[in-house]
Parts: sequence; structure tokens; C-alpha cells
Amino acid sequence: MTAAAQADLGRLHILIIDDDQEVRSSLQTVLETLGYSTQTAATGEQGLHAIERTAFDLVLCDLRLPGASGLDVLKHKSSAVPLILMTAYGNSDIATQAARGGAFDYISKPINPDDLIFILRKFEDFERLKRENETLKSHLSEKYSFKNIVAQSESFKEVFETIKRLSPFNTTVMITGESGTGKELLARALHESSPRRGKPFVAINCGAIPENLMESELFGHKKGAFTDASRDKKGLFEEASGGTLFLDEVGELPLHLQVKLLRALQEQTIRRVGDEQSIPIDVRLVSATLRNLENDALEGRFREDLLYRLNVVSIHLPPLRERIEDISLLIEHFMQKHSKRLGIPAKKITTEVMKVLLEYEWRGNARELENCMERALVLSQGDDIGLDSLPDQVTRGHSTRQQNASGIHDKVDDNLSIKQKTAALEIDLIQRALAKTGGNRTHAAKILEISHRALLYKLKEYGLSGGDSGAKES
Ligand SMILES: Nc1ncnc2c1ncn2[C@@H]1O[C@H](COP(=O)(O)OP(=O)(O)OP(=O)(O)O)[C@@H](O)[C@H]1O
Ligand SMILES: [Mg+2]
Repeated sequence: MTAAAQADLGRLHILIIDDDQEVRSSLQTVLETLGYSTQTAATGEQGLHAIERTAFDLVLCDLRLPGASGLDVLKHKSSAVPLILMTAYGNSDIATQAARGGAFDYISKPINPDDLIFILRKFEDFERLKRENETLKSHLSEKYSFKNIVAQSESFKEVFETIKRLSPFNTTVMITGESGTGKELLARALHESSPRRGKPFVAINCGAIPENLMESELFGHKKGAFTDASRDKKGLFEEASGGTLFLDEVGELPLHLQVKLLRALQEQTIRRVGDEQSIPIDVRLVSATLRNLENDALEGRFREDLLYRLNVVSIHLPPLRERIEDISLLIEHFMQKHSKRLGIPAKKITTEVMKVLLEYEWRGNARELENCMERALVLSQGDDIGLDSLPDQVTRGHSTRQQNASGIHDKVDDNLSIKQKTAALEIDLIQRALAKTGGNRTHAAKILEISHRALLYKLKEYGLSGGDSGAKES
């Protein structure tokens, strides 16, 4: 690595904790000569106090102190600042205790300046690596994720761009996409990246609430408005005040409520059921649907004027099978997410399993993949995710495809179509190349010794990346 590429540490700020005035001032001299800035504390308590108020890069702390000891400081310090213990009793016992307590290192007293310089250089190297790693990580996550949405496909990059462009505005957004493509996740991302982020995000599934309760749910009611209305109740429009109201499955909203919703949007006010008074509203509306509402509008099931109000901007989330380059990234993401949640160490995906996962159609999209990974994490024994821990429906298609591909030499197979056999062979090779490269088409094309364009063409031709995955029938 070139010097220019190294993270610049700047002038490191070091805290020295020692009860001996002489040790403090001589250390201070040495460190400042070496170019560090320093501050001192005479007791563990003073040191802890200083750590709370100032951001140090490193703490040099005596082990034996009156009151709180060096190990106490290590244990109770409020920040993750690295600490080096200084001890006149340099023995392995202290070393173990220091390491166990999370100290960066320890150094024996009286302090030999060469030892000190050696440890400080080691610390700087470590710090540099750590910072480089952090920048790398933040770049990575910027590139592949935004507000918990993980993706690298072109179609999702556009989605990320749209979210960023929309972020300062209150524009009403409609999200379309199959079940499990991440519509709710996107709605939250829109909220989190908007100026409304500190206010409530309220979600309601219009298909899950009985029709007779829906109106009061959305707009609230006045005491006595109906039999069960024993007191005034705020509706979700009011609950979401200042924030975002997410209307999931908005296509399921009954026609008479579509009218009420349209009026609320036009007038920016609502009226609670049984109430005469209008209440002004301040919500950003995001809605989602897996139905084709244009079609519904044509057939009179959904009001066209409402549709225009709702999809001022519309964002379509393509199904997972049309963006296989997101699969491996999502696998990694779900693996991390659930291993953390369940307290199970993350497991490795073998090439064989990756191949199966890349080939599967994922009708349930990211949600199905997420469930599959969670299940596999729990069921797999050992460090790898085994094929047997994948659900049947995921592996079933795979075995058919396997047979088809190897059917080239199958004596019982009397299909002599060169075209079909070539297709089967090509599909198998492409899938293996994609599995090998974690779904990276550019690399896969190289391995396959065909152009990137040719690969895209074949993916499309065999339905491997678009529409119905006809691959398994070939
Ligand atoms: N791109 C993604 N990155 C990370 N997690 C994702 C992504 N897409 C979906 N998920 C996860 O998959 C699950 C399903 O997503 P979500 O609930 O947003 O889908 P949906 O489109 O609203 O589905 P439905 O139509 O069935 O309600 C969630 O746990 C979500 O966090
Ligand atoms: Mg949803």
C-alpha cells in the first residue's frame, strides 16, 4: 500500500494516568517529542472522568494506582478508547488479565523509550488498519445498501437514486411489486430519509382490516358514533401527524373509502366518523400494491382520480428472479441479520448450495429467501449450510435441472435435439459460473469466455434473469 493511500491518523491525543508526578512528566516529554499531544491524570477516578469528557486516541494507564486500579479503569471507561497498561510487575499473569480485560497491550516499568516507541508504532499500524477498514466498510455499505435495503442490481440502484432525489420532498409515492420484494422496507426508507424521520411512521394493511372498521381506523371516530365507540378515538391520519402514513395493499380499499381518502388528500383535512368538525392533516402518504391498479381502474374497481393522486411518483420493485445479482448479497445480509438475532455464528454457503439458491425462482422474493436462510441457519449442523437444510421446494427444481444437464450422456434419454441439449449444457455452465462469482455477470462472462453482452443475451434467452425461469424445463 502506498503512503498516500494510508489513512492519515493526524496528531494522536493520549491520556497518561499515573500517580507518580515524575513518571507523568517524563512520559509527557517523550510523547510530545514524538509528536503526540497529551493530557495527564493522577488517579484512576480522574482518568475515567477525563475519558468521559475528551475523545482520546489512546490511554496509557498505570496498573497500581491508589483507589481505582488500571484494571478498574479498563473495565469502567465509558468509551472504547484503546488502553495500554503500565506495570512494574510485568509478569504473564498481568498480561493475561490485561488482555482479558480488553487492553491493547501492556508495557513494563521502568519504561524503556524503545519499548514505548515500538508499542506506539504497533498501535498506529493497528489504528490505521482499523480506520481503513471502517472507510472501506462505509463505502461498501454506501454502494450496496441504503437504509437497510441491500442490493447491487441496476434496477435497485435506480431505486436508491429515486429515494435520494425524493428525500427533501413530501411527494406522494406509490410502490408496486410482487409480494416480498421489499415494498414496506422501501416505504420506511423513504420515511427515514425524509425530513419527517423523527416523526411516526404508521403502516396499515388495507386488506387485513374488516371493512366496517376500516373507516374509523383511518380517520378516527367520535364517542357514540357507533355502538362500540365508547370514547373519542384518533385515526391513523392523526397518529401519523408530521410523519408518514403507509397504506399497504391500497388496492383492497373499498370504493366508499376511496372516495373519503381522495377527499382527505384534496382538502388536506379529515373528519372523524360521527364528527362534523374538520381536522387538518400533515402526513406524507406512501402506498403499496401488488395489484395492477390501472387495470382495476379500467374495470371500475379502483377510482382513477385517486390513483392519479396516489402515484404522483411510482416506484416498481422488480422480482428477485429478475435481479439474480442481488441474491448473494441478500444471502449474506440475511445470514448476518439472523445469526446476530439468534446468537448462532454465521455459516458458510458452499458453491453447491449457492448454485441452488441462484437457480431457484423465488416466487416469494426476498421474504422467501430470508425465511429460507433463517431456517437453514437453524437446521444446519457444522460450519456450512447444507443442501438438506434448504426447504424441499428449493432443492426439488434443482435435482430436475441436475438430471437434465447431465442427461447429455444419458443412454436412456432419447431426446436427440442438439438445440435442447446445447441449451441444457449452456444453462448448467452459466449457472456454475454465476455461482462461482456470487452472481457477478462480468466475472462470469470472463470465466465462460464469452462477452458480457452474450451472457446477458443468454440469461434472457433462457429466462435465467427475466420473467419465468424457463431454465429448468430445458
Ligand atoms: N433489498 C432488500 N434488502 C434487505 N432486506 C430485504 C430486501 N428486500 C426485502 N427484504 C426483507 O424481506 C422481507 C420482506 O420485505 P417487505 O415486507 O418489505 O416486502 P413487501 O413487498 O412489503 O411484501 P408483501 O407484499 O408481502 O407485504 C423483510 O424482512 C425485508 O426486510
Ligand atoms: Mg408488505
